[in-house]
Amino acid sequence: MDVDYSGRIPNNVGLADDRALQRALLHWQPHFVEWWRSMGPDGALMHDVYLRTAVSVDRDGWAQFGYVRMPDYRWGIFLNPAQPDAVIHFGAHKGEPVWHDVPGEHRANLRRIIVTQGDTEPASVEQQRHLGNTCPSLYDLRNLYQVNVEEGRHLWAMVYLLHRHFGRDGREEAEALLTRRSGDADHPRILGAFNEKTPDWLAFFMFTYFTDRDGKFQLCALAESGFAPLARTTQFMLTEEAHHMFVGESGVSRVVQRTCQAMIALKTDDPAQLREAGVIDLPTIQRYLNFHYSVTVDLFGADRSSNAAIFYTSGLKGRFEETKRADDHVLQDAGYPLLAASGGKLVAQEAPMLNALNEVLRDDFAKDSVGGVGRWNKVIEKAGLPQRLVLPHKAFNRRIGSFAELRVSPGGEVIDDAAWQANVDRWLPTVADRAFVASLMGRVVEPGKFASWIAPPSIGINRQPVDFEYVRFN
Ligand SMILES: [Fe+2]
Ligand SMILES: [Fe+2]
Repeated sequence: MDVDYSGRIPNNVGLADDRALQRALLHWQPHFVEWWRSMGPDGALMHDVYLRTAVSVDRDGWAQFGYVRMPDYRWGIFLNPAQPDAVIHFGAHKGEPVWHDVPGEHRANLRRIIVTQGDTEPASVEQQRHLGNTCPSLYDLRNLYQVNVEEGRHLWAMVYLLHRHFGRDGREEAEALLTRRSGDADHPRILGAFNEKTPDWLAFFMFTYFTDRDGKFQLCALAESGFAPLARTTQFMLTEEAHHMFVGESGVSRVVQRTCQAMIALKTDDPAQLREAGVIDLPTIQRYLNFHYSVTVDLFGADRSSNAAIFYTSGLKGRFEETKRADDHVLQDAGYPLLAASGGKLVAQEAPMLNALNEVLRDDFAKDSVGGVGRWNKVIEKAGLPQRLVLPHKAFNRRIGSFAELRVSPGGEVIDDAAWQANVDRWLPTVADRAFVASLMGRVVEPGKFASWIAPPSIGINRQPVDFEYVRFN
């Protein structure tokens, strides 16, 4: 599984031995770079950025740090090593050897899964492309670019599968991944959350905390796939994903920390006074949290889904930590509680688990999301302040699934439209909130300096000091 760095596409998949595939990917590569130049980070083509680049799939020392101009980043194809006797762990094919090629009967579904995952990767780069113009520090700017180049590599990971395993259809899908655009009315990205704007850095941190975590759970479910190349590539993507969620969690934490400092110094929790002091008040942070959480939980799809059942039973997409679960991994007789409105309340009703697998994954995501919120609250608690941030109820502000027809408060009460309208400005970011946050966004690029609304990190990247020159402008 040695990585071949000698060619134009770094890889550990033996690309040099497959001329046709190599030719197809070398044909796609300039289209990708063209997309990066026009839709990647705005005005950043010439910057030297202190980036990590994947150079191996060994757990230790898989990445190397150094200054790179982003269009020259070595986007490569890396699969975790094949397990010689691997078997499928779930569904109708449980116990059978994993597939190294696409089984004909699952071809359309697998292609759809890979394209849907692949589409999110360039979408987030597009959503974040203007953020470099308003970075709160060089440290944060580097982190943004790191996330961006790795999402670019995740696109490569999916495009490799399309080219290698799906013939002409796969090549067409790979081209289409470069032609859809986040938020475009005529050619939008496939999933709703990836067409939303990421207009400011608070939104970016919430996005990387919540929406990249959706990515983690989707990748974990695909890492169980009976289609071994998909499992092996998503396993390696997860290594990179951890940093994206770190950027989000630590970013929000530093915003909260700075706000608490101002609350103590000014002895106030009045949003107007805090805004005057150049920090983001906690209620505004809570509204951003509510928005990003609710948009992200929609990404898991409808609570009842026959596709989810088919993907599982066919062995294409497992559950989070499938092999650690104690049940039969076939789930024909298993049930799962789904919430439904009854008599003005949300009550649990048993549904077949196979049809509820989107909800199973969503609930696992929700459990995982709680941790960071708890750590943000620790920051507030340490400052001696009584306020707390909370995750809204999963039925709040939904567009997808059975909750889409309901109005539900962040606390989980079913309410009528009048009550929703009367309170929505307390629950979701208002135009004025967004304008205020936007007004704070100025570009800070002097090493070691940070914008007024965010505390410095406690340590730098790759053991470099916080005031390291993480980005050099040319
Ligand atoms: Fe990604
Ligand atoms: Fe990510």
